[in-house]
Amino acid sequence: MPYQLLIDTALPPTMLDMLGDSCEIHFLKDALQDEALLGRIDGYLTYGHPPTDGALMDRMPNLKVISNFGVGVDHINLADARARNIPVGNTPGFVDGATADLTFALLMAIGRNLRIGDRYARGPEFTAYDPNLFHGQEIYGSTLGIVGMGRIGRVVAKRANGFEMNILYHNRNRDPESEEALGVSYASLNELLQQSDFVTLNMPLTPETRRMIGRKQLLLMKPTAYLINVARGGVLDHDALLEALQNRWIAGAAIDVTEPEPLPRDHPLLQMENLIIAPHLGSATRQSRYNMARRTIDNLLAGLRKESLPSRVG
Ligand code: 8YV
Repeated sequence: MPYQLLIDTALPPTMLDMLGDSCEIHFLKDALQDEALLGRIDGYLTYGHPPTDGALMDRMPNLKVISNFGVGVDHINLADARARNIPVGNTPGFVDGATADLTFALLMAIGRNLRIGDRYARGPEFTAYDPNLFHGQEIYGSTLGIVGMGRIGRVVAKRANGFEMNILYHNRNRDPESEEALGVSYASLNELLQQSDFVTLNMPLTPETRRMIGRKQLLLMKPTAYLINVARGGVLDHDALLEALQNRWIAGAAIDVTEPEPLPRDHPLLQMENLIIAPHLGSATRQSRYNMARRTIDNLLAGLRKESLPSRVG
């Protein structure tokens, strides 16, 4: 008998191949209209960040496991899952390199004016080379402030060492091992914001980090500094970011994530020239996606068989 599997978004062919004939698949939007079907669900694979709380779990009395594609599980109520003895799996370790690479891609693109430079190079105004244009912020030798020295933050620090950057970090707890191994220095959030040429947000979204960067924090940054967010939109106050970009409290920002995601199409941030925005590409490489898929399916199958999950987050 195949397991009854709930999914929120269509899965790619690789994941369907990995599942083989182990599961019969049902879509969340259909199951929400069909209480009997929800009652038969054995496993839930959360692919596109669907909000998942105790009320939904209670409608699935046979649910044995929630397997999340990705590391961040801010859309899943872990306490509710724990209270119902439902293990939750995620994919730590499979997104770090790709997400750190994208942090750097955004950092370099905004710091060296690639977005506006590209537009100019294609446009009618570019008739003669002009060395006066688009002076950016040197990356080599500048100060990077990493907020969140977890797995991804540490890989960002490794990349920054290659650029001979001076690296500050802020984290809930000091990390003497990274200080020693990566040459990073601990700073309070305020010190980090005041001193950095680039600030990257690499922390998870939790009740403590929600809106951690708002007006007060952006006002502390140098007017020549750049903010990069590859964490979650919820860690940043978007109204404050708009104000900061409009009034040039900071030179620019590059964000891979927003809240809501996507932003409404008429959101004023989308008009800002000193902003680069990407559609949540952090771990979107062929290699990461494959490894994330493998771990998501392994977590799912282990949970369905009542075995311990290779990566259990809650
Ligand atoms: C994933 C992410 O692409 O791992 C995470 O937490 O945010 C992303 O890198 C995403 O979870 C998959 O939808």
